[in-house]
Amino acid sequence: MNIISSLNFNKLFIHQLFEMADNFKKNNNQIKNVLQGKILINAFFEPSTRTSTSFECAMYRLGGNVISFRDINSSTQKGETFEDTIKTLSTFADVMVLRHPDKHKIQNAITCSSIPIINGGNGNGEHPSQALLDLYSIYYKFGVNFKTKSILFVGDVKNSRTIHSLLNLIHLYPQMKIYFLPYKNLEPSEDMIQKISEFHKQDYSSIVQKWENINYSLFDVVYCTRLQKERTKENNNIFIIDNRFVNKLKQDCIIMHPLPRNEELKTEIDDNPRCFYFIQMECGIYIRMALLNYILNNGK
Ligand code: CP
Repeated sequence: MNIISSLNFNKLFIHQLFEMADNFKKNNNQIKNVLQGKILINAFFEPSTRTSTSFECAMYRLGGNVISFRDINSSTQKGETFEDTIKTLSTFADVMVLRHPDKHKIQNAITCSSIPIINGGNGNGEHPSQALLDLYSIYYKFGVNFKTKSILFVGDVKNSRTIHSLLNLIHLYPQMKIYFLPYKNLEPSEDMIQKISEFHKQDYSSIVQKWENINYSLFDVVYCTRLQKERTKENNNIFIIDNRFVNKLKQDCIIMHPLPRNEELKTEIDDNPRCFYFIQMECGIYIRMALLNYILNNGK
């Protein structure tokens, strides 16, 4: 079972995973070594802190082992092809997390690999395990009522793979509502807006909000993203999320961010009761434990 796109998930799978993650979270200190003898290979051709280390942490907590591969000090520097590299790495492990800046390399990798691959981020494409942990975080905050919540995406909507992947999951819950506060020239496509309007029965004209005229009372979740500097030359019009902004939101609204952050999210928010991005990051460990267990133990 490869995990390439969040389009491949259905509600049954998501709820099974949430239940498993809940159990792992509850019994953190008494987990059996369900992945003893299994090896994860983290194959990263682009920098990462959270994705690589939280998969690593998840594997160790389940009794498995990890090999870390970094492109920069590998034989790719001597001219080895991507395909030979993936073929080689898949010989040494049971599952692979792959991150690559080229959106299309993930498809090449699947054809060369003898083990399941989890897409750990492919260019401006997708980041499906991040989408699972993001939705799990919303569920963790609001319980089963998460299915009726409204979310505002702020930032580089065009290039954010975490937004692209999370949108696919939110579309499974038509009662959820989606809004955007995008940076200039980094807006959602017409297709994205059309889909939201149809699936979620939303007024077309209110989906994209304006900075000077935001309806603060609409949102249960504000999901911030940074400008994807590695994928765009745009560098103007960053919206700064500070306490002034956040304090106008509903009392129980949460601020999420996949991290890393840059200047768009002030550190003063870290002490605001609506700050949720560090809890979100922690949720990533449990959802990744569940995902690895699902893949390597056939859903048991
Ligand atoms: N959220 C996320 O993908 O973070 P990293 O780039 O640090 O892995």
